[in-house]
Amino acid sequence: MLRHASALVLASAVGCATIAFGCRTAEPPAETDRPVTTSTPERDIHSYARPHEVRVTHVALDLHADFDRKILNGTATLQLHRSPSASTVVLDTKGLDIQRVSAAGTDVKFSLGDDDRILGRPLTIELPASVNEITIAYRTSPEAAALQWLQPSQTAGGRRPYLFSQGQAILTRTWIPTQDSPGVRQTYSARITVPRDLRAVMSAEQLTPTGVETPTGRAWDFRLTQPIPPYLIAIAVGDLAFRRVGARTGVYTEPAMLDAAANELVDLEKMVAAAETLLGPYGWGRFDVLVLPPSFPFGGMENPRLTFATPTIIAGDRSLVSLIAHELAHSWSGNLVTNATWSGFWLNEGFTTYVESRLMEVLYGVDRARMLQVLDRRSLDAEIKRLGPTHKDTILDLDLSGRDPDDGVSDIAYEKGATFLRTIEHAVGRKTFDAYLRGYFDRHAFQSITTAQFLADLRQHLLRGDRQLEERLKVEEWLYKPGLPDNAVVPTSDALARVEQDVNAFAEGAAASSITDASAWSTQEWQHFLVSLPEKLTTAQLTDLDRTFRLTERHNSEVLFAWLRVTIRNRYEPAMPALERFLTSQGRRKFLKPLYEDLMKTDWGKDEARRIYARARPLYHSVSTNTLDPIISGKSSS
Ligand code: BES
Ligand code: ZN
Repeated sequence: MLRHASALVLASAVGCATIAFGCRTAEPPAETDRPVTTSTPERDIHSYARPHEVRVTHVALDLHADFDRKILNGTATLQLHRSPSASTVVLDTKGLDIQRVSAAGTDVKFSLGDDDRILGRPLTIELPASVNEITIAYRTSPEAAALQWLQPSQTAGGRRPYLFSQGQAILTRTWIPTQDSPGVRQTYSARITVPRDLRAVMSAEQLTPTGVETPTGRAWDFRLTQPIPPYLIAIAVGDLAFRRVGARTGVYTEPAMLDAAANELVDLEKMVAAAETLLGPYGWGRFDVLVLPPSFPFGGMENPRLTFATPTIIAGDRSLVSLIAHELAHSWSGNLVTNATWSGFWLNEGFTTYVESRLMEVLYGVDRARMLQVLDRRSLDAEIKRLGPTHKDTILDLDLSGRDPDDGVSDIAYEKGATFLRTIEHAVGRKTFDAYLRGYFDRHAFQSITTAQFLADLRQHLLRGDRQLEERLKVEEWLYKPGLPDNAVVPTSDALARVEQDVNAFAEGAAASSITDASAWSTQEWQHFLVSLPEKLTTAQLTDLDRTFRLTERHNSEVLFAWLRVTIRNRYEPAMPALERFLTSQGRRKFLKPLYEDLMKTDWGKDEARRIYARARPLYHSVSTNTLDPIISGKSSS
């Protein structure tokens, strides 16, 4: 009963439209040009694959989406590149039911190894001589971590079910048996058969714009000719509508959300153009955005050709579109040049956060870009403070041994990474750095690289033997030492400095109504005001703020989130219904984790957190529950 009730809450929040809440080488390398050995010297500890022996080069899927049983069922046909001595190929799987493996129609032997909690099970397949294509018949588990199967009540329309995948970091193995390592790039194709009233989309070119009738449903065909890391293979199935934004951009979402989503994303085409000016031609063809139901656990996910995004960025005033700039930037940093192992996650996210900021500057001006940088820096400082300045997770080149890569993910990769690049830019000048950046993407297009390879590239193409410059930049300290080096550039924003004056005045007793410019504040100014408030405020102060600015009623997800954190730590009761509504109407981990943690830190909040979580948990994606379960049960280590 509870389960049903909370599902309805989730649906109604979405139902209202303004939820309040270059590759310069456009052509990927030809199949035959690619050597068996990857250029990656570092072993990927998060994969069983042995790509130096045999490497998957292409995945062809033929899958049926069975919404009653919550499984995908069908075959994966893999093209292999073998070294002459190799007689077996090892794939990654997790929770997959492998029924049969065949080559040219004949069964071949296979075995599944022990199940590791993090990595899953290796699937070892014996390869007959000269075979370089194998077909695996399998089905996924209803609990597959990459897949979330939504009830109709969890969608905006409320009438049709929905399915979406999330592959990063190591979840693709829960729906596709392949070498699930970001160092093993693969092209892919797919035929996805779904119930007749649903549409399938993927991170690939669509070959059947309206689907094809088959005896068992409607089939949708896809192909991606650029080799990508398998975490970027993505699917969504639902009652989806599309609206064009520009010549190569558009929005997919449920019909009830289409107007709001398209209105929010009017600048898509301009964003792609701005990115091309900075980085060279966009090499993926289309850039569309899929706005998902609210349980999507991330803000955005850079699936090629089709970025997945949370509906919580639909603010009605386009104030949260930096997230789209971020996912677009990944078309270069992440999708074109990829971290070869998850230790190099900062190569994806740090470069992307840097480019995101550059795009925001071109599109919306330097003031807005600076405000975002200051907010980001604030969260970096908080993260380093939380972990401690000598904690090894504050090192850019991460040590993830024995851990799920998802557990090592923090603001460090994003903000310390971006700050490092900004510090280099500052030292060498923008013109020089921009030229280096373009060259970096060119030199490594369609490759997966490590931090050490980045460092070698930086030395060869930017530092060029200038030892003094390297020392001044403290390059090795940035990459391999904890904390924030003392040469980090400090972003400043005049607008946010003014907000700080208002915070000080308010903290010292001024009335909320004396903050005269607040009526014209942007989302970022509100965020800064709220995160800068003193730890402790009196109930009278909170009431004054809330009555004057109607903060509890805000629909902008970032502003509401920042306000709710203030209200929890000061136990401001009038905001608690809004807190519960927020926690049960969206499943974005970035919002959920701090709010539940804040509640669990208080005496009175623990029971509240447990009660709300029990209601909301069935709606959340496993990515979010994996993070939240230990927090709610009090077993969290961080
Ligand atoms: N690629 C990430 C999402 C991700 C990271 C998925 C790690 C799985 C493991 C995506 O590009 C991202 O960074 N999303 C952010 C938004 C961004 C604006 C900081 C998010 O989801 O909050
Ligand atoms: Zn990212």
